[in-house]
Amino acid sequence: MATINKELSSIPIGLTTTESPFIEEAKRAGQLYIQQPYPLYSDENQDAWRKLFARMRPRWEKYANQHFMGGISQLCLDPEHIPHLEDVNKFLEPLTRFKAKAVSGYVPAYMFFDCLRNREFPTTITIRRSDKLDYLPEPDIFHDIAGHVPMHTDPAFADTLVRFGECAQTAASLVASIKDEDEKIHHLTSIIKAMARFFWFTIEFGLMKEKEDLKVYGSGLLSSYGEIAHCVESPLVQRYPIQLEWVINQYFEIDHYQPLLFWVDSFDHLFSLVDELEKWMKAGKLENVSPGEPAISEADLKSFLAA
Ligand SMILES: [Fe+2]
Repeated sequence: MATINKELSSIPIGLTTTESPFIEEAKRAGQLYIQQPYPLYSDENQDAWRKLFARMRPRWEKYANQHFMGGISQLCLDPEHIPHLEDVNKFLEPLTRFKAKAVSGYVPAYMFFDCLRNREFPTTITIRRSDKLDYLPEPDIFHDIAGHVPMHTDPAFADTLVRFGECAQTAASLVASIKDEDEKIHHLTSIIKAMARFFWFTIEFGLMKEKEDLKVYGSGLLSSYGEIAHCVESPLVQRYPIQLEWVINQYFEIDHYQPLLFWVDSFDHLFSLVDELEKWMKAGKLENVSPGEPAISEADLKSFLAA
């Protein structure tokens, strides 16, 4: 925790996404896991949280699934102030043993999934600019804490995240036994791609059937003022019951509203699909998924090879 232990007063105020001296310094020092330097949030940062929370609340009431709404009230998130992670964890840990863990930036794929296996959620602490609330390619604290963490109060959902982490562990041990280097990288790239696509179309952009309606449980949707309505209302969006073989072979793009979404019946259903994903992995069915997005980075591959 190098930077946090320094006098915070010597670091310029502001934890705005891509503009924060504190985060830049943590990255330079190689600090991935950090503490949340709460005094560095500026008035503008607090204003961004307040605006984001106020405009999302009626949309959550209309479009979010019931587990999410339960989570929002169980976490006692303050609409007026950016949450302290330790306060969030005081409410979260007794429910599912999950906790939010502050990070300075991107967490390579294996490390990310392994955190989930240990019931830790890598959490971004910066927040988007208050004059640019709508689109942000990278996660921020509103996406992570208001979009993801309320779902982690649900035991079946929390167990599903842990299963993702176990799948990553299985993947690492499967490829470790492959001798040929090219074959190893090819198979690993394909397996990570399949896992990333499955994660994207469920945890980030999933829909759930509730009676006759489709409700939102994916965090990318739950933290987007425009897309949470678009994904349910727009005739331009294709919505289908989830099929594992489709999802793992389906590319996606991150810079526009999603044109194709999948729904599950319940979190028990979702959990059973992650089980199935692991069975397919062990049977070699994830080793040649269709090419295309997402790209798998060198850092992602290395994280699995070092596991
Ligand atoms: Fe996310």
